[in-house]
This record gives sequence, structure tokens and C-alpha cells, in this order.
Amino acid sequence: MDELIREILARPKAGGEVTVRGWLRTARHAKKVSFLEVFDGSCMAGIQAVAGPECARFEEEVRGLGTGCAVEAVGELVDSPGQGQRFEVHAREVKLVGGVDDDYPLQKKRHSFEFLRTIAHLRPRTNTLGAVLRVRDAASRAIDDFFHERGFVQLHSPVITLSDAEGAGDMFRVSTLDPSAPPRDDQGAVDYKQDFFEAPSYLTVSGQLEAEIGALALSRVYTFGPTFRAENSNTSRHLAEFWMVEPEVAFCEIEGLADLAEDFLKSVFRQVGEKCEDDLAFFDARIDDSVLSTLAHVIEEPFERITYTEAVEILEASGRKFEFPVSWGADLQSEHERFLTEEHFGKPLIVTGYPKGIKAFYMYCNDDQQTVAAMDVLVPRIGEIIGGSQREHRLDVLKARIAAQGLPEEEYWWYLDLRRFGSVPHAGFGLGFERLVQFMTGMANIRDVIPFPRVPGNASF
Ligand code: 4AD
Ligand code: MG
Repeated sequence: MDELIREILARPKAGGEVTVRGWLRTARHAKKVSFLEVFDGSCMAGIQAVAGPECARFEEEVRGLGTGCAVEAVGELVDSPGQGQRFEVHAREVKLVGGVDDDYPLQKKRHSFEFLRTIAHLRPRTNTLGAVLRVRDAASRAIDDFFHERGFVQLHSPVITLSDAEGAGDMFRVSTLDPSAPPRDDQGAVDYKQDFFEAPSYLTVSGQLEAEIGALALSRVYTFGPTFRAENSNTSRHLAEFWMVEPEVAFCEIEGLADLAEDFLKSVFRQVGEKCEDDLAFFDARIDDSVLSTLAHVIEEPFERITYTEAVEILEASGRKFEFPVSWGADLQSEHERFLTEEHFGKPLIVTGYPKGIKAFYMYCNDDQQTVAAMDVLVPRIGEIIGGSQREHRLDVLKARIAAQGLPEEEYWWYLDLRRFGSVPHAGFGLGFERLVQFMTGMANIRDVIPFPRVPGNASF
């Protein structure tokens, strides 16, 4: 394979022949010379191929090249007299590999993100989406590195599941029954015993329960996979299909979990900052001018840590009129979370100790009997980026919680078994991967940080 543009630009010095393959960002045809800006997606920068009359097929082919054409340019790598580029290619040959029809939609320099979402098959060729996809990749690598350096084993949790981990009831059903004529039982209800899995089955909302199985055998595991929620949330921070990273740690309590979450975010930011310098500089210049300062801040400054009760006190004392009233026992809404992390503290914030009435059945019940050892990490602009908890490892307490929430105990038989056979304190969290990428890049809408967004009313391609 030939060198990618990223590798060519990293050469110590100019000289020698290079072959550049890619697509034209722009083509400018001056009197006797053509300037062709070629990109291949391997880095933010493109490389300019300069072609004059000495270039093969100059009049017949090169002069007709335009934005979007796929080309192969061969020539000498020389120092560039132009600003902002180290090298350029003095082309002796430029081959048209794939031409573009006149209606190529990316002719203009700038398009709205709304428009780009309608051409998901072409938008990765824009500077912004290209940078997003490289940052996503670097973040994904940084996550794997972080866990592997700390002895975590990656566990592949299932996408299809029979259990509703969050007890939230907003799951996508998986079925092969004929929707127009499903089999019925004696009572006239749909008979899922005749369905593919012989039971109602769904796309997973979280790999947590399976991760707990892993942690209670391998000590430290993490899952990293697609997660599905059928909630009808048409916001800039919700997707119906998103990727979640879920570490789960045996012999770990809530303080250790908060430490892990903070180390984790700092480490991922540091590694992505090093790998994607140009991409992040682009986001800072074009998308949100706080991207680089946020990056430095996340890496260097300790996160703030408060309890839910303290959060409520701060919100009540703020004198601020919120759309949703604040009172102890009610869940924090995104406006409250953003006030705390953006305005009050101006930094990432870890909130622990939520009222047990608003949290899932599996969270560890604190001694006060009022709160659970839950933990959310809130960050400016996004709000909740991580949600997690210490898990209830005491069989009797867990059974009581399942009963109190009206959940069917028999469906959790294996989860309860884990509390009967060598149960230990354990804890874990879930990071919304797209929210992380949003936070890093400053992108306003979550639909623009995943290549193929799935949202209510739209899963087009
Ligand atoms: O807070 P959540 O619902 O936590 C869980 O699912 C736990 N079982 C995780 C665990 O303890 N292992 O979701 C975790 C994170 C949220 O903080 C948020 O960042 C992200 O997942 N998230 C979403 N991201 C995009 N679109 C959605 N619809 C999301 N719902 C949650
Ligand atoms: Mg949550």
C-alpha cells in the first residue's frame, strides 16, 4: 500500500517521488497551472498537487478536474512556498480515477449540519465529519488502552436480551412473528412462546447486568457496544442507538468508582489530545472556541464531588427560576445539571447519593435507608455523561428492592444467584460514548458525532 497523506506529511524532509491518492477538496485552475487540494481522510490536512503543462494529460484531463473527483497524483514532494502547508507535490501525472456528476452535493465550502444529515453517505468527506470520525476512533482506542493498562478484560455482552436492565420499559422488541397475524394464546394475547426465542425479547438498553457476571468472575471487565433506547427523546443529546462503555469492578465501592471515572475521563482526554491535535484545533477554530481550554481543564483540574443533597441545597439557594422545581426526592433535570456543572462549579462534577425512590433496583442502599450509592458525572454543555453505582450485593436487601419496585423476581433468578454464590461489593458505570465525543469536539448535536444516527422517525441509512 502507498503512503497515506498523514504519513507523507510526517516525512522528515521533502524530496523523492510520491503517489497521492484521494479526493479533491478543491481544484483551482489558473492560467498555466492547476492547484489540486487532495484529501484522503487520514488526517485533517490535505496535500496540494500543483500541475503545469509538463504534467501528462494536462489539457485533456487535469484542466477538467473539479471538487469531489477521485484522483491519483504522482510527482516530486517539494517544500511548499504556501502558508500553512509543509509540502506540496509537483505532479508529473494526475490520473482521474473516478469523476463526479454535476450534482455532487458537496460543491459549496460550508453546508448546514441539518443538510449534511440527509447525505450520510457523503458527509464523512467533509472536514467536520472526517475530524469527528477520527476523534471517535482515537477515543475508542484510548478507552481500550485505559482499561487494558489496568487489568480489565473486555466482555462482549449480548445485543439481544430478555431482561430490562434499567427497569425503564422503553425497549425495542425483537421478534420474527408476523405483525399482521401473530399467534394468540387462550386469553387472546400475543403468544411469544411461538416467537423466535420463545419469550418476549428486546434490544439491550445496557450491558451492565452481564458485566456484573463478568466482574464476579474476572474481577475487572468492561463492555463497549451498541445500546438501544426507544424513548421518544428528540433532543441534541439523545439517540435511539448509541454506544456505551461499561466497566464493572469487583471489590469496589462508590468512592473507588468515582476515582475510576475521573481517571478514565482524564486519561481518554489526554490520549485523544495527543493523537488528534489538528482535529481538535479545527473544532476549536470552527465549531466551539472552548474545545482546547476544556481539554486542558479536564486533564489538569480535579473534578468537583458533591452529594445529591448538597446539589439540591445549591440549586435551592441559587435564586434561579427553573422550569422544573427543585426539591429533595425529585430527579435532577438537565437544566439543574447544567447549572451546577457549567455555572456554579464551571467544571466536571461527580454527584453521589441519590434518593432511592428515583433510581434503579440494583443500586446499593446506603445506611441512611433514604439514598443509594449512585453516581452521575456531569460536564459543562452536555450534563450527564456517565451514570453508575455501587451495586446491591446483599441478597435480602436486593430482594426487598425488587419487590418494592414491583419487578418479577423470577426473571432475575440468575442475578440473585450472583448474590448467593460468593457475592462481593462491586460497582460500575456507563459512559455514553457519543456524549463523550460531543464534549471533546464541541459539536452541538449528537446526530453529528455518530456516522449513522438513529433517532425517532429516522433510521434512513
Ligand atoms: O445512566 P444510564 O441509563 O446508565 C445505565 O445504563 C447503567 N446501566 C450504566 C452502568 O452502570 N453500567 O446510561 C449511561 C450513560 C448516560 O450517562 C449517558 O451518557 C448515556 O449513557 N445515554 C445516552 N446517550 C445517548 N443517547 C441516549 N438515549 C442515552 N441514554 C443514556
Ligand atoms: Mg443516567
